[in-house]
Amino acid sequence: MGNAIVLFGATGDLSRRKILPALSTLIERGKLPPDIAVIGAATRELSLEEFFDYVKAPEKIRSNIEYISGNFLEESTFHAIGKRLGGREKVIFYLATPPSYYKPIITALAKHTIATQKGEGGFNRIIIEKPFGVDLPTARELNETILRYFDENQIYRIDHYLGKESVQNISAFRFSNGMFEPIWNRNYIDYITITVAENIGVENRGKYFEEAGILRDIVQNHLFQILALIAMEPPAAFTADAVRDEKVKVFKSVKRVDIKEVVRGQYRGYREEENVARDSTVETFVFAKLFVENWRWAGVPFYIRTGKRLEQKLTEVVITFRQPPLRMFNAIPDEVCGIPNQLVLRIQPERSISIRFGVKRPGQGMEMMSVDMRFNYTDYITGKPISDYERLLLDCYQGDLTLFARSDGVEECWKIIDPIEHAWRGDASDMVVYEPGTWGPDSDILFENQCHAF
Ligand code: BG6
Repeated sequence: MGNAIVLFGATGDLSRRKILPALSTLIERGKLPPDIAVIGAATRELSLEEFFDYVKAPEKIRSNIEYISGNFLEESTFHAIGKRLGGREKVIFYLATPPSYYKPIITALAKHTIATQKGEGGFNRIIIEKPFGVDLPTARELNETILRYFDENQIYRIDHYLGKESVQNISAFRFSNGMFEPIWNRNYIDYITITVAENIGVENRGKYFEEAGILRDIVQNHLFQILALIAMEPPAAFTADAVRDEKVKVFKSVKRVDIKEVVRGQYRGYREEENVARDSTVETFVFAKLFVENWRWAGVPFYIRTGKRLEQKLTEVVITFRQPPLRMFNAIPDEVCGIPNQLVLRIQPERSISIRFGVKRPGQGMEMMSVDMRFNYTDYITGKPISDYERLLLDCYQGDLTLFARSDGVEECWKIIDPIEHAWRGDASDMVVYEPGTWGPDSDILFENQCHAF
């Protein structure tokens, strides 16, 4: 019974940087069968050797690779793929192309019966990269197209943040400890801040970014997935559908965002980037105040913020607990006794969890100081850690959908995003230009919500 992965968009940046190295490591570590065929497909005319050079294919995977150059809109490409696949029984189709090719590829796979149901033990699975649509109507249309030919349980919508060790640990931390979950609600939590900051700009992806903006690029997927893991109810079991049901409930509970509490920014110099309009109004920073209106979270603000060209790369969730009802230590200066308890889940670059609390400063009197009790994930990782793409590819091969987005979840996320995009359309007078290397726009809204620094 043969195995194969067909990689559409094999010459793209993502294939070169992430997918091929991940496949190579999985084969090397014996996680994928040593004889799995990796069939790269892309429009560029290249010989196999030229393809290896072009994508800098890792040595270890070269003997598995075949390359097909062809246009994804032409039948001959799919005939060639079908022929190479032969009677292989376990096949993953990986769509790492520009999104405009998703529909033609999916339709052609079905039409040429390349991806028809397999016999017992065999499978056809399809991995789709983001962006999954650009708004609710386009996401729905794409879902309809795929679901016409594939079952939901064959579709793996990838969000690489869900493959990160420290993101997975959010569920482990919440649902395997008795001491945090009882206070994980509106009675004890004052507000929650979720940050996805990057120091890089748009790099060579100006064209894509001009159509996306950071709201679609990061918030709709990575940031909302983190939000769901923080806010969801304990699932009935840790199975794909039970987990995804709970996430969908969170998205459905998010109240329509008040646009007056959204800050959008653009880093100085963005308009000079390659393939970016000189008068672009696309946002590279966004802050928003969200409310998850359910019994657990009513009234608790979730501040979300993300930006490019900020001071440093940092992804973290900060849970700020309510202050004690009375201040016992009156004599102490405000800035010291006003420090709240915080739980900081740092996702990257360090992977750590800290609890921030006040203790008495040693010495005479009753002065308080804030200290951190920290668990560092890296102290417990032995050997080379599994990367996000490795984990997700392996999950797909093993048929585990837990870390992949379901069609209803994707659509619910667009329902939160679309009203913001609509409100922004046409008038960009609220856009704030910020200096690269800083923590983003100077804005009263950020100050009022303690989100002007990190
Ligand atoms: C991608 C976005 O999904 O995630 C990029 O399209 C972003 O704009 C990247 O830079 C960040 O991923 P990571 O794993 O480096 O935090």
